[in-house]
Formats: sequence, C-alpha cells, structure tokens
Amino acid sequence: MKLKVAILIASVVFVAIAVATYFTSDHGKDGRQGLGHGVAWQRMANPGELSKAHAFLDHNCSACHTPVKGVEAVNCAVCHANDDSILQRQPTAFHADVGSCKDCHSEHGGRNAEITSMDHNVFAKIGRRQLEKATKSSGDESAALLRWLKQSGTESDRPVPSAFVHPALSNAERTLDCASCHSNDDRHFGLFSNDCAACHETKKWNLPEFRHPSPASQDCAQCHQAPPSHYMMHFKMISAKVAAKPHAKVSECYTCHQTTSWPDIKGVGWYKHH
Ligand code: HEC
Ligand code: HEC
Ligand code: HEC
Ligand code: HEC
Ligand code: HEC
Ligand code: HEC
Ligand code: HEC
Repeated sequence: MKLKVAILIASVVFVAIAVATYFTSDHGKDGRQGLGHGVAWQRMANPGELSKAHAFLDHNCSACHTPVKGVEAVNCAVCHANDDSILQRQPTAFHADVGSCKDCHSEHGGRNAEITSMDHNVFAKIGRRQLEKATKSSGDESAALLRWLKQSGTESDRPVPSAFVHPALSNAERTLDCASCHSNDDRHFGLFSNDCAACHETKKWNLPEFRHPSPASQDCAQCHQAPPSHYMMHFKMISAKVAAKPHAKVSECYTCHQTTSWPDIKGVGWYKHH
C-alpha cells in the first residue's frame, strides 16, 4: 500500500516535471571565464584576490599550486585532511577520499566570494575518474563496474529510459546513490523508499508541482508517521484530550490534524506545548 502511494506520487510528480523541464532544460555548468581576452601578464600571474578564508596565503601561492602541475588536492589536504566537521556530516563525508578539490572549491573570486558549491555532476565525474584509475591498477570487478557505468549513460547524452527518475537529473547524476549521502535528510520516515531520485532533483528538495492531499483525506498514515509520544500514555492523557477526541485511534490522524501544520489541531487551533 505504501509502495503504491509512493509510485503514485512519483508518477504524478514525474509527469508534471517532465512537462516543466521540456521547456526550461538547464544543462551544462557555467563555463569559467577564459583568461584569453585582453589579459595583462599581471592578471595571468594572479587571476584575482583570494577568498577571506585563504587571505593569509596571499604571499604563499605554492601552498595550493604545485609548479607545472597546478592546484593539487594533496596541497589542500595538508591543512584540511582532519576537518571533522565535514567528515562527520553524512552529505559531506565523501571528503575522506574524494581526491580532487578545485572542482567544487574555486578561488581568486575576491574576498567575499562563496568558494563552495555542490555540483552533483562534478561529483559523479570525479567518481568515474577514480573508478577508471582503479580499473587500470586492479582486477576485473571494477572493469565490470565501469562497463556498467558506461551503459548506464554517463558516457553520452543519450537519455536513460526509466519510468521513475526525476527528469531534471542528468545521466551522470542518475548514477549516484542519493540515499548514501541524504538518508538523514529523509522527511518521509522511509515510507517513500530510499530511491530519492524517483521524485527529487539535486537543485532543491521542494517540488513545486506537488499538491498535498486535502485535509478531508483519510490516508494520512500512509505518508506520515506519528511521533513516539502517540504510542505512549501521552496520547490518551494529552493528545486525545487536547483534540477533544477521546476515542480516536492513533492511525486516524485526520480526526485531529489539519494539513497546514501538525500543532494546528482540528476544531481547537494552534496547540502550544507547556
Ligand atoms: C587557497 C589555494 C590557492 C592559493 C593560495 C592560490 N591559488 Fe591560484 N588557484 C587556486 C585554485 C583552486 C585555482 C583554480 C584552478 C583550476 O580551476 O584548475 C587557481 C587558479 C590560478 C590560476 C589560473 C591558472 C590555473 O592554474 O588554473 C593562476 C594563474 C593562479 N591561480 C595564480 C595564483 C597566484 C599567483 C597565487 C599567489 C598570489 C595563487 N594562485 C594562490 C587556488 C589557490
Ligand atoms: C595553509 C593551509 C591551507 C591550505 C593549503 C588550504 N586551506 Fe582552505 N582553509 C585554511 C584555513 C585556515 C581556513 C579557514 C578555516 C576556518 O575559518 O575555520 C580555510 C578555509 C577553507 C574553506 C572554507 C571557506 C569558508 O568560506 O568557510 C574551504 C572550502 C577550503 N578552505 C578549501 C580549501 C581548498 C579546496 C584548498 C586547496 C585548493 C585549500 N583550502 C587550501 C587553510 C588552508
Ligand atoms: C563534489 C564537490 C566537492 C568536492 C570535490 C570537494 N568538496 Fe569540500 N565541500 C563541498 C561541499 C558541498 C561542502 C559543504 C558546504 C556546506 O555545508 O556549506 C564542502 C565543505 C568543505 C569544507 C568546510 C567548509 C566550511 O564551511 O566549513 C572544507 C574545508 C572543504 N570542503 C575542503 C575540501 C577539500 C580539501 C577537498 C579536496 C580533497 C574538497 N573539499 C572537495 C563540496 C566539495
Ligand atoms: C556524495 C554525496 C552526495 C550524493 C551521492 C548526492 N548528494 Fe545531494 N548533496 C550533497 C551535498 C554535500 C549537498 C550540499 C548541502 C549539504 O551540505 O547538505 C547536497 C545537496 C543536495 C540538495 C539540496 C540543494 C540545495 O541547495 O538546497 C538536493 C535537493 C540534493 N542534494 C539531492 C540529491 C539527489 C536527488 C541525489 C541523487 C540523485 C543526491 N543529492 C546525491 C551530497 C550528495
Ligand atoms: C515517492 C516520491 C518521493 C520519494 C521517493 C522521496 N521523496 Fe522527498 N518529497 C516528496 C514530496 C512529494 C515532497 C513534498 C514536496 C513539497 O512540499 O514541495 C518531498 C519533500 C522532501 C523534503 C522537504 C522539502 C521541503 O523543502 O519542504 C526533503 C528534505 C525530502 N523530501 C527528502 C527526501 C529524501 C532524502 C529522499 C530519499 C531518501 C526522498 N525525499 C524520497 C516525494 C518523495
Ligand atoms: C500522498 C502522501 C500524503 C498524504 C496522503 C498526506 N500527506 Fe501530508 N505531507 C506529504 C508530504 C510529502 C509532505 C511534505 C514533506 C514533509 O514535511 O513531510 C507533507 C506535509 C504535511 C504537513 C506539514 C509538515 C510540516 O512540518 O511542514 C502536515 C501537517 C501534513 N502533511 C498533514 C497531513 C494530514 C493531516 C494528512 C491527512 C489528512 C496528510 N498529511 C496526508 C504527503 C502526504
Ligand atoms: C486523538 C487526536 C490525534 C490523533 C488521532 C493523532 N494526533 Fe498527532 N497530535 C495530536 C495533538 C493534540 C498533538 C499536539 C500535542 C501533543 O503532542 O500531544 C499532536 C502532535 C503531533 C505531531 C507533532 C509532535 C511534535 O513533537 O511536535 C505530529 C508530527 C503528529 N501529531 C502526527 C500525527 C500523525 C502522523 C498521526 C496519525 C498517524 C497523528 N498525529 C494522530 C493529536 C492527535
């Protein structure tokens, strides 16, 4: 039953978005500004001020740049390898072995520049690059994986036929396991499956096309889980009393709740704790 609901939403959202994206297709990463036009040698030497965080390296270009090779991840790692706050957060834990930094962290954009951006396409490409390297140095298993990736469409712009994939996802993004980085962001208590890509894209979580079922629906429990307090004494002693529905069962959310917000209790109004 839950799966049915998930598939229903997925297909409704899919159709709506397919229509929307057909007209607004948005691919490709911004090209970096070429150094080519009207460049003075001065600007070649220093393409722009460093960010605020790295301003202290104004006179230490080699902290990031290796002569001939350019910006290397190992240089960044000298200072950032043990940054627990990134490694311990699920979505950024990939930093432990990502092997490239400049693709998502730019520099020389000036003191106030935002130097971080999460580009899921870039991440997919880095992953692929690493897989290729591993293939060269090891056995068949990763060769098979690589072949699979090629077939899955990362290689070309050929659309991947699949019933339930958000149409705004690129072929490269489709190879990602969203839940491995985002299961902690799941608002659906697992009720909608772990396959976030069936309904979501990578630019934003909200889905403007989604219309919430009406407050008259009785299916609330298929998409929502009650808090633990609803399965304890608290439910009969507080929740049911507050809502003035002494005989309602927990599964009958709609007898007490509105769809606006959970503390907005039917016929009672906003319930404030304590
Ligand atoms: C905090 C790290 C950092 C420091 C310090 C730094 N850079 Fe860079 N620099 C970068 C990054 C990142 C790029 C973008 C590289 C890319 O996209 O391949 C870059 C790009 C450049 C480029 C463009 C060509 C290229 O290699 O891609 C030049 C030239 C350059 N830096 C010069 C300098 C000079 C001169 C200094 C010292 C005044 C300096 N940089 C200090 C991080 C740094
Ligand atoms: C010499 C040490 C050093 C090197 C080399 C270095 N950084 Fe940093 N980085 C710092 C320090 C110090 C900060 C500021 C930390 C803070 O504010 O907590 C910082 C901040 C950052 C931030 C956070 C910026 C923000 O706005 O909060 C990012 C992202 C970052 N560095 C990435 C990189 C990348 C990518 C490279 C290599 C191209 C690099 N760093 C090279 C020392 C370094
Ligand atoms: C696929 C894109 C991507 C790559 C590749 C990447 N990062 Fe990041 N990095 C991010 C994102 C996204 C964040 C989180 C920003 C946030 O939460 O606001 C982040 C956060 C950071 C931070 C903490 C910034 C802060 O605000 O505290 C540092 C330091 C950092 N990265 C360094 C690196 C270094 C060093 C490398 C290379 C080994 C690297 N990153 C590779 C995307 C990337
Ligand atoms: C390797 C880890 C990783 C994978 C895999 C991944 N993401 Fe992300 N995602 C991130 C990071 C890091 C951010 C930046 C925000 C943050 O630090 O929490 C982010 C941000 C997002 C955002 C919020 C964008 C915004 O600015 O509000 C959405 C939506 C998203 N991802 C969807 C997806 C979907 C859908 C997939 C699967 C197709 C996916 N992600 C796969 C790491 C990942
Ligand atoms: C069957 C479709 C479906 C699946 C699968 C799904 N979601 Fe959602 N998700 C939705 C809908 C519909 C909304 C409501 C969107 C809105 O209100 O704009 C939503 C909302 C969200 C929001 C809140 C958006 C906001 O800004 O209010 C987050 C975060 C989220 N989902 C994360 C996830 C993650 C993480 C996964 C995978 C583990 C996932 N979702 C799987 C359909 C789905
Ligand atoms: C088809 C699935 C579905 C059904 C049925 C459904 N909802 Fe929702 N509801 C969602 C999704 C998806 C969201 C947005 C993600 C989230 O915040 O959980 C949402 C959000 C909400 C919110 C806002 C939560 C917040 O904190 O912003 C409330 C309140 C709510 N629903 C109540 C109800 C009630 C009451 C019913 C029954 C009358 C109901 N829902 C039926 C899917 C559903
Ligand atoms: C008998 C009435 C009643 C029923 C049935 C009921 N609730 Fe509640 N619920 C309440 C009341 C009253 C509150 C606010 C006071 C409280 O926490 O008891 C509440 C609070 C909540 C909250 C907010 C908890 C928090 O800590 O902020 C959520 C979420 C919620 N209910 C979800 C559900 C869901 C999902 C269902 C159905 C599966 C459901 N409720 C069934 C009366 C009810």
